[in-house]
Amino acid sequence: MTQPDTTPGLRGRVAHLLEHGPGGPADPHSWRSPLRGPWLTSVLAVALLIGLPVLIVTGLLSYAAYDPALGGSNDQTPGAGLLASWIRFDWFTSPSWLYRVTQGTHVLLGIALIPLVLAKLWSVAPKLFAWPPVRSPAQALERLSLLLLVGSILFLLLTGVMNVQYDYAWGFSFYTGHFYAAWVFIAAFASHVALKLPTMLRTLRSRSFREELRTSTADTVPEPLDPYGLVSPAPEPATVSRRGALAWAGGSSLTLLALSIGQSIDPLRPTALLSPRGQSYGDGPNDFQVNTTFREIGIDPVQTGPSWRLRLVGPGDRSVVLSREDLLGMRQVTEELPIACVEGWSTSQRWTGVRLRDLAALVGGDGADSVFVESLQQAGAFSTMSLTGKQIRADKTLLALRVNGADLSLDHGFPARMVIPAAPGVRNTKWVEALTFGRPS
Ligand code: HEM
Repeated sequence: MTQPDTTPGLRGRVAHLLEHGPGGPADPHSWRSPLRGPWLTSVLAVALLIGLPVLIVTGLLSYAAYDPALGGSNDQTPGAGLLASWIRFDWFTSPSWLYRVTQGTHVLLGIALIPLVLAKLWSVAPKLFAWPPVRSPAQALERLSLLLLVGSILFLLLTGVMNVQYDYAWGFSFYTGHFYAAWVFIAAFASHVALKLPTMLRTLRSRSFREELRTSTADTVPEPLDPYGLVSPAPEPATVSRRGALAWAGGSSLTLLALSIGQSIDPLRPTALLSPRGQSYGDGPNDFQVNTTFREIGIDPVQTGPSWRLRLVGPGDRSVVLSREDLLGMRQVTEELPIACVEGWSTSQRWTGVRLRDLAALVGGDGADSVFVESLQQAGAFSTMSLTGKQIRADKTLLALRVNGADLSLDHGFPARMVIPAAPGVRNTKWVEALTFGRPS
């Protein structure tokens, strides 16, 4: 006798799926950690609530520091005007260490926050798989914003770290990708904080932080079941206390910070084990970091030899051509100024050269509102760069010929390079061959 077929049909299977979910991570019982709960999530949220806004502000300042209103190489993010017109102002020229601090903070904080973001995501992991995925239009909107929040922060952290490591493995401009993802993140982050802040404050008040830090692993018990679905309904015994879990997350952040901070503080340079530009670059006066060597950028040393000339063009098309000897014959000024890279490394050195405003005066460009700087380098995204009138007139803006008492090396821009106070490293054009005053690119 044949048995009746009891396997459910497609309809039955769909009905079962809708009612019970697909199992696996969508089943709350599969999440067994007794540590997960609104309190731990809220403590991690506080750390992110302090760190992420600093990351956002310093990131936006980095965009402003390129003086994007001058166009051309200064603004590498097409269409950014709509989002960024309000942060386009003439970038500061003092204090000279300004960009060193803002961008050093941006990169170091971005690296140090990685473990805390991952810990926060771990603490809410069951919610990422919650079943059913959508219960109402309002909840669908919230889930979409969470998808954008999680997706954008992971994208920003990943591209940021890869950029710091000079691993350009993507087929798009870092500036464009990082800039637009940052705006997605800012919008999603603002709405997430607005929605969760009351929950966070309420939850933090519900338990004593001190008490929690005193609790050993043996005494660690799950939080009471919560309306958010973070607490496990089937917890296993604790293998680490909440204090231990927070120490792991915080300790990992501090370790990453300790292994990276030397890239921004000269005496700590040998400790920057995670920074590809944190180590030694030979010896002597030119022993400090470079992003691009003359070979990488295709500079022929012959171009920088005795035949090299600097072309100055004024707003009224007055022009002057100067040799390196002519420049060395002008008034020389020495300034201690940092080179601070967008990748976060920075170093302060003693530069000697001619004030840019003295060069401007030779061609009637004293009152110019910009100068267009051209390099011998033909390749690379920053072979030309515009500077503002404020930068032309700043006491400390130099066309440097020497560093730490010696001629510039070829890698540092011999025969002459720009050194601008408070500006991003790539604005300090190397191997300068022409300066045109009064004409933005
Ligand atoms: C990169 C930063 C952050 C990411 C990626 C993130 C992600 C998430 C996700 C995916 C959830 C689960 C939400 C759900 O499905 O309902 C969540 C919950 C939560 N988040 Fe965040 N969050 C971040 C920062 C913050 C900050 C700064 C706060 C501070 C207000 C915060 C407060 C909370 C709270 C209190 C919860 C638990 C309550 C709940 O699930 O409804 N988060 N977070």
